[in-house]
Parts: sequence; C-alpha cells; structure tokens
Amino acid sequence: MQNRIMITGAGSGLGREIALRWARDGWQLAMSDVNDAGLQETLKLVREAGGEGFVQRCDVRDYSQLTAFAQACEQKLGGIDIIVNNAGVASGGFFDELSLEDWDWQIAINLMGVVKGCKAFLPLLEKSKGKIINIASMAALMQGPAMSNYNVAKAGVVALSESLLVELRQQEIGVHVVCPSFFQTNLLDSFRGPTPAMKAQVGKLLESSPISASDIAEYIHDQVARGEFMILPHEQGRMAWQLKQKNPQMLYDEMANMADKMRAKAKSGKD
Ligand SMILES: NC(=O)c1ccc[n+]([C@@H]2O[C@H](COP(=O)([O-])OP(=O)(O)OC[C@H]3O[C@@H](n4cnc5c(N)ncnc54)[C@H](O)[C@@H]3O)[C@@H](O)[C@H]2O)c1
Repeated sequence: MQNRIMITGAGSGLGREIALRWARDGWQLAMSDVNDAGLQETLKLVREAGGEGFVQRCDVRDYSQLTAFAQACEQKLGGIDIIVNNAGVASGGFFDELSLEDWDWQIAINLMGVVKGCKAFLPLLEKSKGKIINIASMAALMQGPAMSNYNVAKAGVVALSESLLVELRQQEIGVHVVCPSFFQTNLLDSFRGPTPAMKAQVGKLLESSPISASDIAEYIHDQVARGEFMILPHEQGRMAWQLKQKNPQMLYDEMANMADKMRAKAKSGKD
C-alpha cells in the first residue's frame, strides 16, 4: 500500500494545500521548507486533517540537505511513495533588465531544486515504485513577457519531467508535471525583479485567479489518480495550450502585444 508523501515548499501556498489533501486520505507526510514557522503551521493543520508525519528544514538548492531529508524519510517512514517538488520563487523583468545573478538565483531554486529533489529521492522511489509530481507552471508552455528566467526554469521542469517519464517507465516510477496559471499564494513575497512596477503587475495576476490553491491541490490529487502526465488545473490554461499547439504564431503575436503594452505602461510610470 502506498501512503507516504514528501513535499518541498510545504510551509505555504500550494505545498501546504497538497499536504492537507493527502492528509485527508490519512497519509504520512514528510514536509520541508526554508520557512520554519510555515512548516510548523502546516504540520498542525495536517494533524487536524487526519494526517501524520514530520517536518525538516531543507533548502532545495543544497543537495546534501535533500539527501539528508531522503535519509530521514527512510528512517522515520521506512521509505517514500510520492515526492512533490513544489518549492519555488517568483521573478519578473524584461530580459535586458535581468542580471545574470537574477538568472542564477531563479535557475538554482526553480529548476535545479527539482533536479536535485528527483535525484536525491530516486533510490527510495525505485524501491517503492513510487511517483514524482513536479510543480512547473503555465509559464513553461506560454512564455509570457517579462519573465524569461522564470519561463526557462519552468520549461526545464517540464523537459525534465518528460525525460523522466520516458526513462523511468521500466522501473515503474510514475511521473506527473503540473502547470498552473497564476493563483493566490504567498509567492509574491519571494519576488525578485528589477522594478517594483513588475512586482505589482505579478501581484494583480495572482489575485485574478478564479481558482484557489486548495482547488489546485484537489485537481492534482484527482489527475494523479487517473495517471495523467501533464496536469493543467486552470480551464483557461488548458484552452490556451490547445490553441498554441494548433497555431503557435497567434500566441506569439498575442504575447508580443502584451509585451508592448507592459513596456508602454512602464514608460508612462503607471503600474
Ligand atoms: N502562485 C502561482 O501563481 C503559481 C503559478 C504557477 C506555478 N506556481 C508554482 O507553485 C509552487 C508553489 O508556489 P506557491 O505559489 O505556493 O508560493 P508560496 O510562496 O506560497 O510557496 C512556496 C514555498 O517554497 C518555499 N521555498 C522558496 N525557496 C525555497 C528553497 N530554496 N528551498 C526550500 N523551499 C523554498 C517558500 O518558503 C514557500 O513556503 C512554486 O514552484 C511556484 O513556482 C505558482
């Protein structure tokens, strides 16, 4: 029976809601984050929801912290059945404004954090014939303007997931990748970018979502049970992705118009 799940970035937002969704099924949870207070709050909520488990501070940039976390899962839970590479940060800014440090920071967390999570937990997943759930973003598929470093990191998560889907089939390890559009969480707190105006624009997009982090966790739970590889929780996202596959140029033109508007707004000093 599979009943042990590990989640990175579990101290807030989507990671917390995923923890609560699996807790309601009575799973044992291994939860990590760099936010200790957030982790303690998630643990409390998990217990109230019927789950059990432990929390461990773990920065996904540091491979040795991830291998130590995997070791703790083996010692405390006897292994792991699902890993959720969810920890992530937000960024924005036009390519000419982003520094190479902005790129390094974004790639280290949002892409290499997922690579390292998969690598550190692979031996345990081989034993359990478990599942990997990687949290990417619609940004991976749509490449919206003024967020090239985020787009590239998340596109990398999709490419990694596709690679693992193919490579790990023989070991009977399932792979899923989740591409949500914007939704309201604390993601803006981690925002890094060259201008406050860009941060305000991202804030507005987060607020605009018709669905919550809890709805998204529910959708992921359902789609993983159905064995769906590419999970797109927003209806608008599913439509946009279909459209792009049929007519990519139309989407590029749309994104270019959006970029023009954003630059014009930035020039006029409005947010
Ligand atoms: N909110 C959105 O609109 C949205 C859209 C698409 C994808 N996502 C993705 O969903 C995932 C969860 O984000 P969220 O929206 O719940 O944001 P959030 O900020 O509420 O949660 C992210 C968590 O990751 C943790 N974290 C950040 N850096 C870390 C590190 N180096 N090591 C370990 N933990 C770290 C944070 O402390 C935080 O608790 C992210 O990968 C994000 O890119 C979010």
